[in-house]
Amino acid sequence: MEAIISLLLVVGVATGQPFPPPSPACDIPAIYNFGDSNSDTGGIAAAFYPPGPPSGETFFKRPVGRASDGRLIIDFIAEKLGLPYLSAYLDSIKANYTHGANFATGGATIRRVNESWFEHDVSPFSLDIQVEQFNQFKDRTTYLYNQAKDDSQRQNLPRPNDFMKAIYTIDIGQNDLAYVFRTMGVEASRAAIPDIIEQFANSIRQLYGKGARAFWIHNTGPIGCLPVTHTKVVNPAAGYLDEIGCVAGQNRIANEFNEKLRAKVVQLRSDLPKAILAYVDMYSAKYQLISKAKDLGFKEGFTICCGYHDQDNDIYCGNKGKINGSEVFAGSCKDPTKVISWDGVHYSDAANRWIANQITYGLFSDPPLSIIEICPENKGANKLSLASIRLNSYLTPLT
Ligand SMILES: *[C@@H]1O[C@H](CO)[C@@H](O)[C@H](O)[C@H]1NC(C)=O
Ligand SMILES: *[C@@H]1O[C@H](CO)[C@@H](O)[C@H](O)[C@H]1NC(C)=O
Ligand SMILES: *[C@@H]1O[C@H](CO)[C@@H](O)[C@H](O)[C@H]1NC(C)=O
Repeated sequence: MEAIISLLLVVGVATGQPFPPPSPACDIPAIYNFGDSNSDTGGIAAAFYPPGPPSGETFFKRPVGRASDGRLIIDFIAEKLGLPYLSAYLDSIKANYTHGANFATGGATIRRVNESWFEHDVSPFSLDIQVEQFNQFKDRTTYLYNQAKDDSQRQNLPRPNDFMKAIYTIDIGQNDLAYVFRTMGVEASRAAIPDIIEQFANSIRQLYGKGARAFWIHNTGPIGCLPVTHTKVVNPAAGYLDEIGCVAGQNRIANEFNEKLRAKVVQLRSDLPKAILAYVDMYSAKYQLISKAKDLGFKEGFTICCGYHDQDNDIYCGNKGKINGSEVFAGSCKDPTKVISWDGVHYSDAANRWIANQITYGLFSDPPLSIIEICPENKGANKLSLASIRLNSYLTPLT
């Protein structure tokens, strides 16, 4: 850290401008989001079974179709941009699309896979289908908006001109890895990565073709650190777990996926010259949180708040099951604000808040812009000087 700071100071002295002003904030009127349960604000719940209590208990005080006790990272992103929480595209009840829509569904993959919701909770709405739904959404809302006789008929509809100014956020890939781990084994799954990444890129190109210009792309998280996996590990062989207790082989594949994704994003920057594409290192943000859990005020990083899991049992959060012959309900812990993992797979409101504070600030993104600066106008921003601002900010506590 110190070496970097002095390098930046030298640069600052050389330019006479140690901390140039940040790029101007963009006018971002809408968010269009694509992904899986990490950012699903009610899609799969509307399509299949809604999650029951205790989901939603900390923040919304009732279940709201999110796999968490409260807000997801996409909710904190909406807050940061000063926009309302996103309605799910599949939700037909009181949905309001004035400032965007959410196409993410829990269990979604980038590639279509040969499993179903009824088998391994795989969503039928893979990324290509989500993009197709976006196309339909855009065409139909534009038609309705232009047909409308007055503003009252435009209620809940996005303004057609906003599609080009919107930010397109994407968080998907973890279920593709889970699928190949299941069907091919962890080591062999490496071979599937190029195809998954190519299909991801196709979806980005399609969105660009439909006018999307600002992309905020999360890489995949440390899947080997999921606490539910952790509960199954008994007497691990040397090297099976990494230094903080995550399954090393699974994380190696996640890292390989992320390297290829990053390279693809670099390529897309030249293929799609009018777009700005931010690559966000979600893996590092989440890994840092888990490894520094106690320093950051959380319980040990693999603690699960809701659900009962051990070597032989899996009773997921909000479900009933039998343990040693007696029926138990998998309820939540006393203080969800002290745990990182809500249910063994998904993060708590408190964890999502910490992660969102880090990433929306630009601390984990390339280019190192804050999310409010992601628009094509800021494409040419001076990356090094921006990095210095971020670093400077990083030294002051975040809230
Ligand atoms: C939809 O949301 C917008 C922006 O928050 C708000 O102005 C509008 O009144 C909402 N529409 C309805 C019908 O509530
Ligand atoms: C699904 O099955 C088909 C036919 O066996 C195969 O060609 C395809 O590669 C499979 N897809 C995945 C993602 O495994
Ligand atoms: C179930 O029984 C086993 C064996 O008696 C015991 O070790 C375990 O703690 C019990 N589990 C629960 C949740 O009570």
